[in-house]
Amino acid sequence: MSIHRSGSLRITAPNELSLVAEDGSALALHPLWLRERCKDAASMDLRTQQRLQDPSDFPLELRITAISQPGSGIYRIRFSDGHEGTFSAADLLEEAALAPNSHDCPAPHMWDGSLSKLPRPRWSATPADSELMSWLEAFLGFGFIIFEGVPTQPETVLKVGAQFGFVRETNFGALFDVRSTPQATDLAYTSVALDPHTDNPYRAPVPGIQLLHCLVNETSGGLSTLVDGFAVAQALRTQHPGAFDILASTPVRFKYIDADTELTANASPIELDVTGALRAIHFSPRLDFVPLFAAPRLAAYYQARQLFDRRLRAPDFEIRFLLAAGDLVMFDNCRLLHGRTGFDPAEGLRHLQGCYIDIDGPRSLYRVLRRRLRDAGAARRSA
Ligand code: OGA
Ligand code: ZN
Repeated sequence: MSIHRSGSLRITAPNELSLVAEDGSALALHPLWLRERCKDAASMDLRTQQRLQDPSDFPLELRITAISQPGSGIYRIRFSDGHEGTFSAADLLEEAALAPNSHDCPAPHMWDGSLSKLPRPRWSATPADSELMSWLEAFLGFGFIIFEGVPTQPETVLKVGAQFGFVRETNFGALFDVRSTPQATDLAYTSVALDPHTDNPYRAPVPGIQLLHCLVNETSGGLSTLVDGFAVAQALRTQHPGAFDILASTPVRFKYIDADTELTANASPIELDVTGALRAIHFSPRLDFVPLFAAPRLAAYYQARQLFDRRLRAPDFEIRFLLAAGDLVMFDNCRLLHGRTGFDPAEGLRHLQGCYIDIDGPRSLYRVLRRRLRDAGAARRSA
């Protein structure tokens, strides 16, 4: 679905620079696409890398009037507005290779219930850049990571969250305690099993990432479950494209209510981006209410929902693991669904602390580390 353009740059006509793919097909780079990427001090503020000119002011009929190659991998281009820009071939190729919907991060590596080697590193509050990078690669690829050996001091989950992004405070506070309590305000705070769900689909925006840190687990049940919602949606798309389309186009109302709060948000269970690729899953059977549509539409929706939910709950897609004291799982709440098996509170205490952060935190950190590790590598090579 995503367009990935790779190849090499070549001057294909006197005033034309093209990206030439391996099969020989050429894509001429549009003069305006190049002009708005000029990196000289007249075009952009060099410190912030933000543009100084509004590109809508460039003439639509802008042309290239000359191209030269003053050095290897460097192009000098003169435009019909009189401006001359210098371009690095490496920069242009890197940018051309980005798919239109790319986050410029590792792509999701989809998995199912057969995933046996879980990303489960030992936690360190002061990881080296390369170690932090390996955590981020695992998290962004699998959509989750389980840290072992996180100190079981209360509120440590906030410190772990802050390592990757900014903690998102909600009406539950910066941090929430997950343990069974008699007057629970949410079924999560009881001992019942929780089917696969995404958290807080009633919020706008939905929390991007959830962290759950186990402080105590004296019960034999209460296993944590995870499902890669993208893998399930992809399977549905292949096997039942009609059902997939219904779930991608039906707005569902999600609702949370307590004495001081009333939150509602509308989202389709499967959310697509403008290229038609999977963007998010919004699914919580405790909280979803489809609007009143005509009976045939509702019948089709209920059937599609059942097909999706049966797969979400099937062992073919789900992994289970015990969160012991000191384990912390961090997962993408827009891609993965999570749940737990029920437990008997008479066996003992089960106490988790959780918090939310946004997905842009780890993505930003990944790009910053990539830059830092590249620069460090280049410095070592030139030393
Ligand atoms: C939650 C939740 C899972 C657990 O608090 O949202 O899903 O393992 N908890 O208790
Ligand atoms: Zn939950």
